[in-house]
Formats: sequence, C-alpha cells, structure tokens
Amino acid sequence: MHVHPYERMWIRLSAVLLVVFGIAIAVSSLALGVTIPGATPRSVATGLPADATPSQGWVRELGPGRYEVNLVARMWGFEPNVIRVPKGSTVTFYVHSQDVLHGFKIKDTTVSMMAIPGQVGRASYTFEEPGEYLYVCHEYCGLGHHVMSGKVIVE
Ligand code: CUA
Repeated sequence: MHVHPYERMWIRLSAVLLVVFGIAIAVSSLALGVTIPGATPRSVATGLPADATPSQGWVRELGPGRYEVNLVARMWGFEPNVIRVPKGSTVTFYVHSQDVLHGFKIKDTTVSMMAIPGQVGRASYTFEEPGEYLYVCHEYCGLGHHVMSGKVIVE
C-alpha cells in the first residue's frame, strides 16, 4: 500500500503526541498528585466559617455593611431564597450543592459560579444600588430547574 510521505509524517507525529500526552497524564497524576474534581468533599478554600456546610443556609451580619451568606442549592430551590441587606453592603457567599450540579448567578452582578457537590464556592459582591437582584440556577439540574431562584433585596 502506498502512503504519501506527508501522510506518513502526520501519522507518526500523531502517534508521538499520543505517547507524550499519555506520559504527561501519568506524571501529573502519579508524581504531582493532580486529580479531577470528584464528589469527595475537600476544602477548596481556607478561612471558611466552621458552619459553612451544605446542611443549612443562613445569613449573618459580620459588622456594619458586611454580611456572609451560606447558600445551599438543592433540587429545586435555594436556602435562603430571600436575602435582605442594606444598600452598600458587601456580601460574601459560600455556595454548596446538596445533591447534583447546580448554578448560582446573581443578575446584574459579577457573581456567577457552579454549585458543585462536595465543594464550596466563594464570591463577594458589594451592592451599591438598591433594588431586587434575582439569582437563578443556570446549570440544567432536572425537571424543576426553571423554578430554582431567589433574590437579594437591597434596601
Ligand atoms: Cu439547579 Cu438548575
């Protein structure tokens, strides 16, 4: 069978690349300890409050204009689903999922993340303008995905 020299060169190059990538995966997992995210709980951030867990949602005032929210996502709602803070407050969100992959996006803010079972997402935002900020699940999570929402009310 005749194989064009260019074609032979590309076939060899592809084979070499496969071997290189295989070695890279082996070295990173066996020698460097790199793993893919799994459902096994692991701490992704230091300095989390001890009660920032997926068991219960809460809102806490830390001081003037500073709040923390432990936000639990589950099929198909958020806990808490109404958060009231005064204008100008900086709110830090700790985001969990109790079951499957969910999303957490607050409209008109920079807060947008996935809620991954076994992991904690953290984001802060300062609400300068009063109003209602809808938050929604933006990862498809089943039949009730479209009703999964809540709001931050900035007074
Ligand atoms: Cu939760 Cu979509």
